[in-house]
Amino acid sequence: MRIDIVTIFPAFFDVLDVSLIGKAREKGLLDLRVHDLRDATTDRHRTVDDTPYGGGAGMVMKPEPWGATLDAILGDDAVLVVPTPSGEVFRQSLARELAQEKQLVFACGRYEGIDQRVIDHYAARGRVRLVSIGDYVLNGGEVASMAMIEAITRLIPGFMGNPESLVEESHEDGLLEYPIYTKPAIWRDLEVPPVLLSGNHGAVAAWRKEQSLERTRERRPDLLAD
Ligand code: ADE
Repeated sequence: MRIDIVTIFPAFFDVLDVSLIGKAREKGLLDLRVHDLRDATTDRHRTVDDTPYGGGAGMVMKPEPWGATLDAILGDDAVLVVPTPSGEVFRQSLARELAQEKQLVFACGRYEGIDQRVIDHYAARGRVRLVSIGDYVLNGGEVASMAMIEAITRLIPGFMGNPESLVEESHEDGLLEYPIYTKPAIWRDLEVPPVLLSGNHGAVAAWRKEQSLERTRERRPDLLAD
């Protein structure tokens, strides 16, 4: 998979050299490129923002640097992902969908956002997804992109050392994951639930399912309603 990130803060993404994403890049599973939006500016101050038409607080990202940068990056089959608090909510199902793509381009806006015509222009020519990682406001799309990239790339075949671990996680079956334990069997007077020491695989599976349901009912009833 190829992932391009456009940002005015390329340094945010230096951490993508470490951990499993770094390994995937070394293995050639992931071709990840970070682009500085300011490289496409033509003025001395490398200006990427201006005041909003119609008035209002804050600044808006100018369309020209975005157009020049995205024209140079977007392949025919690319999906342009624009992180924004006004987008559709990012869920595991969208991560699974995007993990199938050949190229994802993340357009990280700052300030009040990107001139709407950039979205409209590329939506008329290809696939654009406006995506929110949750109902809160970040200072820009960088952290949101990082979260999405981590959720998506770990689903690329060959990415995880042990792909079995993907099967039983929270959200894979629409429920939250059951509680997990390791040795010792007693820690600070707290015991591991005896069923997990029983060796009875059927009983363990039933207990885990019940725990998943109970947790989901308690913490995320909205998931059960879905
Ligand atoms: N940019 C600012 N806030 C955001 C959010 N919640 N999700 C995605 N992008 C954002």
